[in-house]
Amino acid sequence: MKGNSKQSDSYENHLSTSSEGELFRELVEHLRLNRASLREEWAGRIHKAGLLTAMSREEVFTEATEIFDNYIQALETGNVKDLQAYARDLSRRIIHRGVEIHEVLGIVLLLRDVLARSLFKKYHKNLELLNRMLDAYEPAANRIANTVGVSFVEQRERIIRRQQKAIQILHIQEEERKRISRELHDEIGQVLTAVNTQLALLQRDCVGGEREPLFKTEIADVEKLLVGVIDRMHSFARDLRPAALDDLGLMPALRSYLKDYAERTGLLVRFERASRDMQLSSEQKTTLFRIAQESLTNVAKHAQATEVVVTLGLVKGGVQLRIKDNGKGFAVKQQCSAPESKRLGLLGMQERVCLVNGCCTLQSAPGRGTTVTVEIPLASMRAPESTSSLSLERNESSRAY
Ligand SMILES: Nc1ncnc2c1ncn2[C@@H]1O[C@H](COP(=O)(O)OP(=O)(O)O)[C@@H](O)[C@H]1O
Ligand SMILES: [Mg+2]
Repeated sequence: MKGNSKQSDSYENHLSTSSEGELFRELVEHLRLNRASLREEWAGRIHKAGLLTAMSREEVFTEATEIFDNYIQALETGNVKDLQAYARDLSRRIIHRGVEIHEVLGIVLLLRDVLARSLFKKYHKNLELLNRMLDAYEPAANRIANTVGVSFVEQRERIIRRQQKAIQILHIQEEERKRISRELHDEIGQVLTAVNTQLALLQRDCVGGEREPLFKTEIADVEKLLVGVIDRMHSFARDLRPAALDDLGLMPALRSYLKDYAERTGLLVRFERASRDMQLSSEQKTTLFRIAQESLTNVAKHAQATEVVVTLGLVKGGVQLRIKDNGKGFAVKQQCSAPESKRLGLLGMQERVCLVNGCCTLQSAPGRGTTVTVEIPLASMRAPESTSSLSLERNESSRAY
């Protein structure tokens, strides 16, 4: 950032010492007066150039408006700090959605072009003035484009490094769970089953003697306890990391989890799934399974629902998982502004989905049930290199969280 603050200093110096101060004031005035039409033209050209496709048109327009105002302010004051801060904030919001460097540079260069054209339109009858105007405008515009570009690249690198670290940690965690789950299932499970067999033998052999009925009841009790423990251990091992997820795939793992969940909770569970096979990477499978697990745990814990529908299918460019309950629902906005410690499950889901460049939406309102929707682009698993074409509609009661 040191390089940039130097740039911004020299830019301010340039402004204060240059005789073009007047020209700049006129330029800024012109951009302010034509704010609405220029902004619209710019947003239209962003769309036409196929940039920021991971964002909806409304989102692009909102950001374009903010950038436009920050841009004019930077031109006016010569101070690019606000624009820099805005670029960093924007990067934080859009990078995980797969927006790439060329797109951000592209939109800044398009803005520079839209503004230069408007200057041409205004001053083309006075070429001398037009030239002076462009001479004053171009270096400033270049510095601004450079500032935004550098901010974006730096932020992107930081985010990618953090993402890679988080992916690594999650991977280690899943591997550890896999190991414990196998150990529980194979080692301890076998020992417990052997103990059960021994008990059955004891039950058979302890005939004769006056204490036989007592022994038989006691052995039967221990057997019952043991069967309970074996059952719980298996379901614990499955929760930790279902072997089916690695051995058979997401669909069978989910089906088996849902069957177990329905028995455990007494909820009516419907599973609607795509008939076509999905090619999912290990991270994608794990993410979708963990989201289903956390959402369903929330339904059992908080929703007081009678029914839950789980849908897994393909949508344009990706895979979609939806968990919809008919429970009491909750105020999403309020919950999202609660302290982080009070919504670790929801936050964890969001973070997991971000790591595979996906998007997570929560729709709920008191008395109207809750729907969690997750979309993950299928084309690529490369962290933020990919351009996702997914965009989720949002309304009052829904929120990407
Ligand atoms: N399906 C749901 N139905 C009703 N309320 C829910 C549901 N899912 C989440 N919530 C609300 O959101 C809160 C935060 O959820 P979460 O982050 O998973 O934390 P936790 O489950 O540990 O409370 C819950 O305490 C609950 O109030
Ligand atoms: Mg929870």
